[in-house]
Amino acid sequence: MDSHFLLRRISSLAGIVPIGLFLVYHLYMQLYLHSGAEIYNNEVNSFYDSPLSTWALIIVVYIPLLLHSIVGTLLVFENKVQPSYTYFSHLLYWLQRLSGIGVLLFIIAHIWNAKLGPWIEGTWGTHFEHLSIGFTDPETGMITKTVYVLGVLGAVFHFANGINTFCMTWGIALTPTSQKRVRLFSYLVFIFLTAITFYSLAAIW
Ligand code: HEM
Repeated sequence: MDSHFLLRRISSLAGIVPIGLFLVYHLYMQLYLHSGAEIYNNEVNSFYDSPLSTWALIIVVYIPLLLHSIVGTLLVFENKVQPSYTYFSHLLYWLQRLSGIGVLLFIIAHIWNAKLGPWIEGTWGTHFEHLSIGFTDPETGMITKTVYVLGVLGAVFHFANGINTFCMTWGIALTPTSQKRVRLFSYLVFIFLTAITFYSLAAIW
């Protein structure tokens, strides 16, 4: 097994298991926006009560994200699109790469907006108030909302479509029938996660 192949496999696993699971958990948490400021802030902050929270984030989110981003960036420049791909597969291939770059930029902006900015200001912890003020600001609210809608769509698409490439890379779906089943499953994941997130955001729109 050459090192390039191994790196690709590890990066594919990192995208689905730690990062993908974090994404599902994080989007599920946003449903608490409908429960109001006190409950939402308590739910989000309770994660940080654990002395292991920082380590959990470093091991489950930041290290896999760094690895996945580096390997992903290398893959963007490695044009290995198959001539046998249909028009739709070509589209998904390019959208996967485009969404990867977009999500990386979104995560940097989002961590600044939701974590580092409030930390520096000394207001970290009042997440609900911070998000809703940002969304309803008369001057910048529309930009914030657009960035969040595109960021969430990009992240959910990248994760859902990544399930297909993950199953091929790991030899889980090799026959056309199994690939069709996995594709159907990924459509459902995309629709479900997009729907719950837009429902969550409606609470602070
Ligand atoms: C509905 C859209 C979203 C909302 C309302 C939201 C909300 C928040 C809030 C309030 C925080 C700060 C509290 C905390 O640190 O847990 C946060 C942190 C974070 N979010 Fe999101 N988020 C959204 C989407 C996303 C997406 C799509 C991603 C990934 C692609 C993401 C990744 C992260 C990361 C990595 C952190 C920092 C975690 C940490 O280091 O503590 N978020 N988010």
